[in-house]
Amino acid sequence: LGRQDLAGRKVLVTAGPTREPIDPVRFVSNPSSGKMGYAVARVAARRGAQVTLVSGPTALEDPSGVEVVRVETAEEMARAVESAQAEMDLFVGAAAVSDYRPAAPAAHKLKKKPGEETLVLARTPDILAGLGARHAGRPGAPVLVGFAAETEEVIARAREKLKGKRCDLVVANKVGAPGAGFGGDTNRVALVSAAELAEIEGTKDKVAEAILDWILPVLDARRPR
Ligand code: C5P
Repeated sequence: LGRQDLAGRKVLVTAGPTREPIDPVRFVSNPSSGKMGYAVARVAARRGAQVTLVSGPTALEDPSGVEVVRVETAEEMARAVESAQAEMDLFVGAAAVSDYRPAAPAAHKLKKKPGEETLVLARTPDILAGLGARHAGRPGAPVLVGFAAETEEVIARAREKLKGKRCDLVVANKVGAPGAGFGGDTNRVALVSAAELAEIEGTKDKVAEAILDWILPVLDARRPR
């Protein structure tokens, strides 16, 4: 069975992209495969946690022993997180949530016609920042972990996210670097917290193990069993 160091812990993970409809046949999205978040969910379940995975559209199979809730849009993801978050010990936001959505999706397929060149966008809810605003600093608050996929100034941006979204840890990776980021089976990340900076490289399962190893003592200190 391996070590069950997350036994009795309730873990909520988001993964994959979101899809924001333009019209019934088109959407705004990104190339997230969901692999990193699924790895965190699978490894947490293997280590004994009760895991709920809120997933955007992916080609991946449900990890065994994990409750999977499938959603499409950022707003659906936010609602699914809201209904699953009671009593959670740990939230891992690995989803590549679209920051914007088309403001007024068309009910019918858009036609090519002059004057239709502009897509008006609206912000989506920031799920992780919402949890940070609600929980951070509270005694017994859940541990909050975010991801930061960046193309430049990776560590500085991760530090900004750590503060801005009030989370305990930001897992930062450089998109476009060899062996890291969207789609692949390996990743190279930096774990950025208020006090430390650690680098991890390997399969997404190995990276998931290392993220959970980092979280474990924080969880035990915050919510002693
Ligand atoms: O601000 P940015 O999108 O780069 O932040 C990435 C982190 O915030 C990820 O952990 C992601 O899951 C989370 N996020 C979210 N809701 C959003 C946007 C990002 O939970 N609308």
